[in-house]
Amino acid sequence: MCEDIKPKEVFVEELFSSIAPRYDFLNSLLSFGIHKAWRAYAVKCCRLSSGDAALDVAAGTCDLAIRLSKSVGRDGRVVAVDFCRPMLKVGKKRIEKLNIKNVEVLFGNAKALPAEADTFQASITGFALRNVDDIPAALREMARVTVPGGRVVLLELAKPEGPVFGRLYNFYFERMLPVIGGAISRRFKPYKYLPASLKSFCSREEIAQMMIEAGLHDISIHNLTGGIAAVHVGVK
Ligand SMILES: C[S@@+](CC[C@H](N)C(=O)[O-])C[C@H]1O[C@@H](n2cnc3c(N)ncnc32)[C@H](O)[C@@H]1O
Repeated sequence: MCEDIKPKEVFVEELFSSIAPRYDFLNSLLSFGIHKAWRAYAVKCCRLSSGDAALDVAAGTCDLAIRLSKSVGRDGRVVAVDFCRPMLKVGKKRIEKLNIKNVEVLFGNAKALPAEADTFQASITGFALRNVDDIPAALREMARVTVPGGRVVLLELAKPEGPVFGRLYNFYFERMLPVIGGAISRRFKPYKYLPASLKSFCSREEIAQMMIEAGLHDISIHNLTGGIAAVHVGVK
């Protein structure tokens, strides 16, 4: 089984509270905008149709929820859940600004989702699993609230494949990113935590095994941009 970094929920909540207003800007800057293509791909993997219900778990500033709202259309609905109020506040503002009416933003924990069983055609989480202190519990919850036949989609950073690209990426991710992110956000702790959280994160195969143990099947793994991100898809 993977090494679990077990960050305290208080630590994670405080960390994201401290960077919430700059989170979206820094995401785009530090990933050179690539995260947008990854998000689009992950949302496509949800295979949603007009009128469907979708869930964004650990939604943060609701970027994926906003994308899901387009997939499900006016007749569909999206629920976004997170336990960090400052992140949700930014998300709510974005939703209001875009005049989106089909996204409900809820305070809640990924380990005890505020939703009935068999509710959503797809449940997604983006860049959040590394921060959850009990990944199997979060996966069980995502599976529980998804309808039979529905999809659970996980978008996460991953360890790159290939020695040359891997070394270049590690140099950027471990040396440069903490300095740039820290200097711009004036918060060094979160951007030191980011590479550390990936280093101790589970492998693709371990995540896939946890999905099976959560009751999902037909697991597929999709590597993105040389494997620096990956999407896992499972069917309930
Ligand atoms: C890196 S951000 C990702 C935000 C968003 N999903 C995105 O795609 O940008 C991680 C988020 O996970 C949330 N989070 C971590 N553990 C959580 C938990 N157990 N329950 C709810 N939210 C959690 C944090 O509050 C934070 O907003």
